[in-house]
Amino acid sequence: MAERRGTRADPRDRLIVALDVPALDEAEALADRLRGVVRWFKIGSQLFTAAGPRAIAAIAQRGRVFLDMKFHDIPTTVGAAVGAAAGHGVALCTVHASGGTEMMRAAREAAHGAFRDTGAGPARVIGVTLLTSIDERTLREIGAAGTPTEVALRLAHLAGAAGLDGVVVSPLEVEAVRAACGPEFLLVCPGIRAAGGATDDQRRVRTAGAAAGAGADLLVVGRPITHAPDPARAAEEVLREIEDAPAQPRPRA
Ligand code: C5P
Repeated sequence: MAERRGTRADPRDRLIVALDVPALDEAEALADRLRGVVRWFKIGSQLFTAAGPRAIAAIAQRGRVFLDMKFHDIPTTVGAAVGAAAGHGVALCTVHASGGTEMMRAAREAAHGAFRDTGAGPARVIGVTLLTSIDERTLREIGAAGTPTEVALRLAHLAGAAGLDGVVVSPLEVEAVRAACGPEFLLVCPGIRAAGGATDDQRRVRTAGAAAGAGADLLVVGRPITHAPDPARAAEEVLREIEDAPAQPRPRA
């Protein structure tokens, strides 16, 4: 059997804390409380719309930045947006895989181009397959054929074929996407909750240990850490779970 490298990966390279807060000072305060424990932070549309590129600059001083704007537009526009994000020093960003091959290729080219031009990258670009809020009824409503898992797998394939680095994946679909897309595809997994803990508005959840053990490379955790009385301690708990998870073939930082 091939060597299972998971045992040697530093769990701190596999945890991303979602800074879903309305203002930059709050995000900075949270990131400061997590200093030394957390190495990756996610900036989503709430914080970016409120604070703009200043948020990227401020958080990049405290860790690697995952800009989760889920871009979806004509290829030229998405390419320009990804190029701008990469130029700001973002390490990872998202586009919707349903935007199609040409749009995803434009995103990838732009990320690579920004790296060549500024040396700020290389930003990795991953595809959003299917939002976890979309169920079978919504798929029918928008005229998409298949179950949510089938659609997610189809879009994950498309993202890989377009040259994206990986996809965002529901914790319950990690194994299926890993099997379909191979060991080199980056799988980034939200929907992480402690066993028996509050699920908030997440419906399809898994523990950090289960998601990591199933083959997720990077785990996105928001409220279980950011709403905890002691966020650093909550993050350490998640890191311990990742560390104790069964080894997987090839975690990536
Ligand atoms: O607070 P919580 O742990 O639920 O945060 C999860 C983060 O992951 C949020 O920022 C949410 O927008 C994001 N996300 C998600 N499900 C997806 C894609 C992104 O929960 N399918």
